[in-house]
Amino acid sequence: MIKKCLFPAAGYGTRFLPVTKAMPKEMLPILTKPLIQYGVEEAVEAGMNTMAIITGRGKRAIEDHFDISYELEHQIKDTSKEPLLTEIRSLIKKCTFTYTRQIEMKGLGDAILKGNALIGDEPFAVVLADDLCINQEGAGVLEQMVKLYEKYKCSIVAIMEVPEDQTYKYGVIDGKEIEEGVYMISNMVEKPEPKEAPSNLAIIGRYILTPDIFDVIKNTKLGKNGELQITDALMSLAKNGMVLAYKFKGQRFDCGSVDGYVEATNYLYDLEKSGS
Ligand code: UTP
Repeated sequence: MIKKCLFPAAGYGTRFLPVTKAMPKEMLPILTKPLIQYGVEEAVEAGMNTMAIITGRGKRAIEDHFDISYELEHQIKDTSKEPLLTEIRSLIKKCTFTYTRQIEMKGLGDAILKGNALIGDEPFAVVLADDLCINQEGAGVLEQMVKLYEKYKCSIVAIMEVPEDQTYKYGVIDGKEIEEGVYMISNMVEKPEPKEAPSNLAIIGRYILTPDIFDVIKNTKLGKNGELQITDALMSLAKNGMVLAYKFKGQRFDCGSVDGYVEATNYLYDLEKSGS
C-alpha cells in the first residue's frame, strides 16, 4: 500500500512573477482552493494519509494552510461562513503533514532526494501541484497509478500526448506498449527539441516511485540546465530494471503557466456553475 505522497514545492515559480515574489506558486487559487489542496485531495482519494512537502524560503503559507487558524475559527463560528472551512478541516484531520526545506533549488531530482528523510524506505507518490489533474469520469490520476503499481510493483510516470512542437517543455519517453496505455520505458529525454524527441509522449507531474530511486539520484550527474533531473535518474532505473509510463485518463492543466492556469480556472468554474 502506498501511504505517502511527496510534494516538491520549492521552485521559484518565475513564470508567475510578480505574484510569486512573496507567495508560493502552490498557493495560487483555482476558484477558492489553492493548487496544492487539489493535489492533497487527489492523494487522499488514492488512499494516502501522509503528505511530505518540500518547501523553501517564502513558502510558509503552505504550512499555515494545512493547520488550524484559531482566530479565524473563532470569528466565523456559528455564522453562515463556517461551512466554507468544512472541506479543509476534514482534509487536515485525515492527513499528517511533514515538511523539509530544499536549501538550493538544484532541480526536481534534488527536491525528491530531500524527501528521503520524510519518506524512508517505502514506495511513494509524487505530485507536482502546479499540474492540476481532473478526471470527471472516475478515479483520479494517482488512484489509477496506484492500481497499476499494485500489479507491476515498479516505478511509474504519468504521460500524455503533446503536440510535437511542445516536447521541449517535458521529459519525453520511448517504449513498448505492454497493455493499453501502459509502456515499458526504453528511453527518456529531458526537454528535447522536436527533432530529438523519441516520441510525443510527455511526462507530467504524477509519479509513483520505488525507494531505490533515492540511491540512484545520489549517483546521477547534473543534467539539462545544470539541474539534478529526475528523468535522468529514472532512465538509470529503467536500464537496470523496469519503469512504466502510464497514459492516464482525465485532463491535466499546466497551472505553472498563465494559459494553463486560466484554462483550469474556467474549466472548474463552468463545472461548478453546471452543478457537476
Ligand atoms: P518548474 O519547472 O515548474 O519550476 O518545477 P518552478 O521554479 O516551480 O517554476 P518556473 O519555471 O520558475 O515558473 C516543477 C516542480 O518542481 C518543483 C517546483 O516547485 C514545481 O512543483 N521544484 C523544481 C522544486 O521543488 N525544486 C527545484 O529545485 C525545482
